[in-house]
Amino acid sequence: MTTRVGIEAFGFYVPHLYLSLDTLAERQGSDPAKFSRGIGQEKIALPAHDEDVVTLGAEAARPVIERCGTDGIDTLLFATESGVDQSKSAGIFAHALLGLPANCRNVELKQACYSATAALQLACGHVMRKPRARVLIIAADVARYDRGSSGEPTQGCGAVAMLVSAVPRIVEIEPVSGCYTEDIMDFWRPNYRRTPLVDGRFSALRYLHGLVRSWTDYQAGGGRPYGEFAQFCYHLPFSRMAEKGHGHLARQAGAEADMTRCRPGMVYSRQVGNCYAASLYLALISALENTRDDLAGRPVGLFSYGSGAVSEFFSAIVQPGYRDNLPADRHRKLLRARTEVTYETYLDLRDIPDPQDGGTALIRPAARGRYRLEKIDDHKRHYVDTGR
Ligand code: HMG
Repeated sequence: MTTRVGIEAFGFYVPHLYLSLDTLAERQGSDPAKFSRGIGQEKIALPAHDEDVVTLGAEAARPVIERCGTDGIDTLLFATESGVDQSKSAGIFAHALLGLPANCRNVELKQACYSATAALQLACGHVMRKPRARVLIIAADVARYDRGSSGEPTQGCGAVAMLVSAVPRIVEIEPVSGCYTEDIMDFWRPNYRRTPLVDGRFSALRYLHGLVRSWTDYQAGGGRPYGEFAQFCYHLPFSRMAEKGHGHLARQAGAEADMTRCRPGMVYSRQVGNCYAASLYLALISALENTRDDLAGRPVGLFSYGSGAVSEFFSAIVQPGYRDNLPADRHRKLLRARTEVTYETYLDLRDIPDPQDGGTALIRPAARGRYRLEKIDDHKRHYVDTGR
């Protein structure tokens, strides 16, 4: 019997603070329409000082664990490019907060925004070999750019958790995929920098190039024809990028670009901003929760891009009953119940605790979730489960 493999459960988390892009436009003296229409974004999700990829990731995973339990989870893959330590995986902190079994491998993966796709493909391979195993993937990032830079309006943060197993209740991942790697400097962050360096317009061109090359490789490997896909989900540095990608791919495939086949995937991202590794999977959740038609049994095309650069095009089949397995109301409530911050608070939130001398930084409680960074002391991060 062949093993089917895919996503059994999804969780998504965004912190409760955001900056409106209208506020940023006003302070920068830009036309707000440049952000709302030109790049297609409305809000920048912001972490409080006691939130980081560990707490965001654990929050995203908690409902998954509550729903599906921990049985069989023998691997945790943590995908991020905003890790909290150069050696220790953020996944080990998350593993402890979530109470996962000790007989679990645990590793952090990095390749800009692409790493969660690598995690997903590795997880699928593992489950094929060991069908009773389940893999927890956490993709979490905080996207911060320099103030006044072209990337600033595309900032954001968030986390997606996916449980990969041989019981794919939401989507089954198909085995064909197309990949493309090229050595370029479009967006990168040297170890000594807090914010990335970015050649913005060049990066957008390489994104489109990677899309064509990975699509071509996907087709060469026996992938589905363009017309079969019910929806397309793209990595979303900002939502206009997906619209451009969608038009570009349609031209490549000799088809008409039907924007109704990519817009449902953009709904949540407009409210969150770029969340790097989590962004494509936030798009998939958004497409599943915001497409009115029943997608059961239908294929969805997925395009993953991580600067530097790696691209991958692959596909998933939406499973019967998928809606019953998605916490759509919870996700919508999370996005609605947020607080807008002033520009001054936004600046304060950028000034994250950084006791490089090994001193103690006690962090004021602000997170609304269950997990928080309580302090950094003697160069060690201390997380707490508030039990909320
Ligand atoms: P920019 O250069 O300031 O913007 O920032 P622009 O001048 O190119 O304008 C953007 C769009 O707004 C244009 O539309 C303008 O016409 C329009 P387009 O011609 O592209 O269709 N516009 C307006 N529309 C309405 N009313 C107005 C108005 N004014 C202008 N008044 C840039 C754009 C992409 C450079 C910037 O957002 C940036 O640097 N972003 C960061 C890098 C990025 O997101 N790159 C995307 C591809 S790379 C990627 O996805 C990887 C990444 O996620 C990282 C990772 O992998 O880890 C970033």
